[in-house]
Amino acid sequence: MNSLEYNNGSLFFDGISLETIAKKIKTPFYIYSEESIKKNISDYLADATSETLFCYSVKANSNISLLKLIASQGMGFDVVSKGELHRAIKAGANPKRIVYSGVGKTKEEIAYALNNKILCFNVESEEELYAINSQATLMKTRANVSIRVNPDVKVVTHPYISTGMKENKFGIAYEDALGIYQKAKKLDSIDIIGIDFHIGSQITSIEPYLDSISSIKNLITKLEKNDIKLSHIDVGGGLGISYENEKLISKQDFIKMIINSLTDLNLNIIFEPGRSIVGDCGILVSQVQYVKESKSKNFLIIDASMSELMRPPLYGAYHKITPVKKSNHSNKIFDVVGPVCESADFLGKDRELNCQSGDLVVIEDVGAYGSVLSSNYNTRPRPAEYIISNNEVKLIRSADTLDQIIENENC
Ligand SMILES: Cc1ncc(COP(=O)(O)O)c(C=O)c1O
Repeated sequence: MNSLEYNNGSLFFDGISLETIAKKIKTPFYIYSEESIKKNISDYLADATSETLFCYSVKANSNISLLKLIASQGMGFDVVSKGELHRAIKAGANPKRIVYSGVGKTKEEIAYALNNKILCFNVESEEELYAINSQATLMKTRANVSIRVNPDVKVVTHPYISTGMKENKFGIAYEDALGIYQKAKKLDSIDIIGIDFHIGSQITSIEPYLDSISSIKNLITKLEKNDIKLSHIDVGGGLGISYENEKLISKQDFIKMIINSLTDLNLNIIFEPGRSIVGDCGILVSQVQYVKESKSKNFLIIDASMSELMRPPLYGAYHKITPVKKSNHSNKIFDVVGPVCESADFLGKDRELNCQSGDLVVIEDVGAYGSVLSSNYNTRPRPAEYIISNNEVKLIRSADTLDQIIENENC
């Protein structure tokens, strides 16, 4: 990670010593770098034109302070629930820069989005289209829609984060899309404004996007022949980050290539990046509780677990684990595990480390799909979140208290 570096054998994050920070803050905690988030956004926006809209995908990290920061840098939002829309509005987002994706929007959620006059619904099924139309008719308003088309493109990523293939639940099958547009055109309270796709997450190359664009373009030609005119194409999110020194296409090249491939269409272009905005801007700081060694296996038992970071057990995701104090002693191989009572509770397997109990370690690249996936499993408080902004460490979410965890239960 760019914002992490050793200085005299001690790890600094955004120029501040993590040992010093952890003297004042109880581990485990998340901490983000404002500077890195701003840099990621400016890399995306460098070649943006007035016809491009960047809608940060709130699901990647929905902390309201981060949403405010991201909105202040010129981004709109992609939301997938009433809760995420509520957060975006609380963060002061302009609803006309919000798109609403997701396969299971309820009537209540549709009504909330219509009340807030969002830019458009990314529609994922025929029934959902009718539900939006009925709700808009009931509310005597009109709904802007884009149809999410599933381009059936294979993406090299974990199967749980591939979304653009026939067997995935997302979007409308390519061969059905024209028919759905024709039906949408006849509905009383629907305005068709776009077409969208999102093929998956942690994608490292441009090819699957270009393949998708090529088949979506064929569909747009058919739509035009049927007198269905669009004002935008939304190419989703999905660009990956380097967790384990993966080779990636740069954000600038990605944007240039997508814009070039779409110039002939003369449409506005929407992007929905999530992971690539915040993923490499956050770390989870944790303390080693116990070192457990045996002939067959060594364990570092740390105070972070799957309840703070679900990605390793959920996707087998790899995150670098780095000691805050560099050691000159020889390393051993450890599984780095948490205190949760599940064998799936691991943060890293077979890691070469030299740590003693009491040492601090950093789990890297956890800004996306980290804190948002945390839970109170084993009645563990969700951890605090901080940000380094202008060389200051600022609290942006307190850790849960035990009373907060049980407050909705009948005691
Ligand atoms: C519809 C949609 N848009 C955008 C994203 C963001 O993807 P990423 O975080 O990989 O950029 C997702 C993530 O799954 C998504 O489902």
